Amino acid sequence: MLAQRVCVSDFEDEAQRVLPKAVYDYYRSGADQQDTLADNVAAFSRWCLRPRVLRDVSTVDMRVSVLGHTLSMPVCVSATAMQRMAHPDGETATARACKAVGTGMMLSSWATSTIEEVMSATTASPGGAGVLWLQLYIYKDRAVTLSLVWRAEEAGYTAIFVTVDTPYLGRRLADVRNRFKLPPHLSMPNFSSSALTFSEGNYGDDSGLAVYVSRSIDPSICWDDIDWLKKHTRLPVILKGILNGEDAVQAVQCGVDGILVSNHGARQLDGVPATLDVLEEVVEAVQGHCDVFMDGGIRRGTDVLKALALGAKAVFVGRPVLWGLACQGKEGVVEILELLKEELRLAMALSGNTSSRVCYCL
Ligand code: FNR
Repeated sequence: MLAQRVCVSDFEDEAQRVLPKAVYDYYRSGADQQDTLADNVAAFSRWCLRPRVLRDVSTVDMRVSVLGHTLSMPVCVSATAMQRMAHPDGETATARACKAVGTGMMLSSWATSTIEEVMSATTASPGGAGVLWLQLYIYKDRAVTLSLVWRAEEAGYTAIFVTVDTPYLGRRLADVRNRFKLPPHLSMPNFSSSALTFSEGNYGDDSGLAVYVSRSIDPSICWDDIDWLKKHTRLPVILKGILNGEDAVQAVQCGVDGILVSNHGARQLDGVPATLDVLEEVVEAVQGHCDVFMDGGIRRGTDVLKALALGAKAVFVGRPVLWGLACQGKEGVVEILELLKEELRLAMALSGNTSSRVCYCL
């Protein structure tokens, strides 16, 4: 009999047992020495909660408004690539799970399911479309880039999270050693040419994904490209991968609709601060001009509470969702999201907070 899963690391342990090594390595790894990978998690332990008492916590309201949608909790799902390596249903299972729990999902440009089929997976059940956002990499080929954006608009996605921390892929040593590439039965079907579906045979002795990025993603993007993107879409544009106040101010001046404080799950530049440690700086720099979100290292409800108390409107989770998916497909993702929700509810109640919109506890 399988052991009961009572926290995120139980899911990770089980996922590690069921996934092929190269897949687990790809999902788990950070860049280089993985100092930031450890610090993203450790940062949460450097803050203590200071509970208030006698505040009637018999009802706790975790709902939050994110990009115009009322979500059941301030925990959303970040883009993680190639989810069909974790489970045959991949991104469609994650989307159905997010809808069941009442939260939003950011779909990776590097999904192993199409933009349209992920949306259809949510509309197949009663209750209307799920809340879906597209994560965008800006390709050297701008026509390819815009086709992703316009297909997302057409399909009913409601925001674009443009990733700004990946001019090249961070050096993830396990992926180099494993010469990581997609298993032959999978591809990135949102593209039409085999060069972009990541299903070419030859990536040499390197991480196949690093070679793919250097061939196809534009390392020359700059602020003008954000202006360009905003001109070509009617959807809100959120920058994913901001780590300091200066860039946050520039993002606000550029007219973005939100900022996601992120170091890409510590998979890009190793040695950058934990996202929790720069969250306050970004929130202060933005001065309320747009919403600030964060991701990186969230593994329990108290982590969510600390991020909210430091000014995040909502947080996003990456790896925990992959572990849920690997363990049990859609049901596993529901389980992990419900676990985080229940942990947050308890943390809020025990710290004297009754609304996730105003959390004071540090
Ligand atoms: C990612 N991340 C990511 N980000 C992005 O903008 N586009 C992508 O395709 C991916 N793919 C991806 C794959 C895997 C396996 C991981 C672990 C991460 C980064 C992701 O969106 C998010 O920023 C981090 O995962 C958040 O950190 P945690 O929650 O994994 O600690």
